[in-house]
Amino acid sequence: MGNPKVSVVITGWEARYYDEILDIVTLFQYRKFIRKLMHEETAVFPGARVAELGVGNGRNAILLSEKIGPEGVVVGFDISPDMLKRAREKTEKYGNIMIVNHDIRVPFEREYENYFDVALIALAFHGFTPEDRIRIIENTKSILKDGGKFYLLDYNQMDYSKAPFYFKILIDKFECPLAEEFLSYPLVEVMEKHGFKLTKKREYVRGLFQYSEFTLIK
Ligand SMILES: C[S@@+](CC[C@H](N)C(=O)[O-])C[C@H]1O[C@@H](n2cnc3c(N)ncnc32)[C@H](O)[C@@H]1O
Repeated sequence: MGNPKVSVVITGWEARYYDEILDIVTLFQYRKFIRKLMHEETAVFPGARVAELGVGNGRNAILLSEKIGPEGVVVGFDISPDMLKRAREKTEKYGNIMIVNHDIRVPFEREYENYFDVALIALAFHGFTPEDRIRIIENTKSILKDGGKFYLLDYNQMDYSKAPFYFKILIDKFECPLAEEFLSYPLVEVMEKHGFKLTKKREYVRGLFQYSEFTLIK
């Protein structure tokens, strides 16, 4: 497994107030943005089974649960005890959300094999080593049905030397060490090698962020 020091696991007060911090830092723009992504750009449907890898406080899970109705389910996986606690508190009243303590670098329980229609990883994939990213892709492949969708919300690939200064401050001062490497990571090629075809890509904030949809062809 990757270097344990290189990690996107968030704990303590940052975990407890993760959603609030993101709202404040973005002057409450993120709230509207993520709602639009989950409700309009993610192919969920009534009865869909959705996996969120690195569920955090559960904000995305809640938004998706509104679209899938009581027949569907969102299973949110995380390993941060503080994130898991907060996500459980926030999603308690939703009958169609389950929060599970699981390291997404490790194969999922057999019960989830070919189980999900949709998988999502938001603001987390860049924080894993290239080896762990492959593990995550392979693990996701095993839990998705043929034709299932895998969504990634993350930094976009770019020429970092040409990135705006405010983005460089974010990457250099606040991000985990692997974020910069992710900016030149051959995401589409790696996904294709593992059976996922890019079927939609949206770019945001002057192309600095992406929301990409990959379809699994087994
Ligand atoms: C930046 S947060 C994003 C949370 C959520 N996806 C969102 O967009 O609000 C990344 C999350 O991934 C979780 N995480 C990190 N490494 C993980 C791992 N190996 N397995 C499961 N979750 C992990 C962290 O604990 C954290 O909750």
